[in-house]
Amino acid sequence: MSHPSHRQVVSYVRRSTRMRPNLRAALDRYGSRYLVPVDTADRSTSIAADAHVDWDAAFGRSAPRVVEIGPGHGESIVSLALERADLDIIGFEVFEPAIAGIVARLHAAGTTNVRLVQADGEQGLRTLFGPRSLTQVVTYFPDPWHKARHHKRRLVDARFAGLVAERLAPGGTWRLATDWEDYALVMRDVLDACPGLVNLHAGWAPRPDVRPLTRFEARGLAAGRTIRDLEYGRADDH
Ligand SMILES: C[S@@+](CC[C@H](N)C(=O)[O-])C[C@H]1O[C@@H](n2cnc3c(N)ncnc32)[C@H](O)[C@@H]1O
Repeated sequence: MSHPSHRQVVSYVRRSTRMRPNLRAALDRYGSRYLVPVDTADRSTSIAADAHVDWDAAFGRSAPRVVEIGPGHGESIVSLALERADLDIIGFEVFEPAIAGIVARLHAAGTTNVRLVQADGEQGLRTLFGPRSLTQVVTYFPDPWHKARHHKRRLVDARFAGLVAERLAPGGTWRLATDWEDYALVMRDVLDACPGLVNLHAGWAPRPDVRPLTRFEARGLAAGRTIRDLEYGRADDH
């Protein structure tokens, strides 16, 4: 069953889930420590409209929550988890080999404050969290979909910005980064126009200390692209 409020065009394409044997082994061995099962709808990465997760039970405690959408290889989610043991961090990632890689990294780092959901993060944000429930939302290097005919697949649009604004708790922030200048400008325009959000910097944000160089970012830099960071807070707080 699909939910009318879910976007019809998703921000990713389903790819083959063949993965290296060491990643498969890491997922089989340690996956259950980190993966939170969620009821799915028509696609295996679509979340059922009535899905629910008891996050306190999933973490075994109640702590301020962060959601990262599309953690990819997991560099930033592990870095934040180690830096901020006081936070509970939920990563939504649609690509199974990426999930397996993150599980391997979390296990190697001995991280206990991260949980992963293999599903669409926009749907997860909408369905599995209440208003004003997140201390931070992180979207680093979302798929750029740089061809004009694919722009509708981009994660960050006005609707998504409105959703993030609703989910942020008092004092909460949304951090974004991209290496695609046109997407960076769209992000900034869309977030500036969102009544629930306010830019915490005069334009681009400084790179946060806790954001490590990821493989995706390194590829952008090697291709000569400029990295843009953004950080927004709740309009109600200012
Ligand atoms: C370009 S990579 C960036 C990875 C990482 N954030 C980084 O900075 O290196 C984008 C990632 O987002 C994932 N992704 C795309 N759309 C998503 C969605 N709607 N929900 C969850 N993950 C998504 C992709 O599978 C991919 O791993």
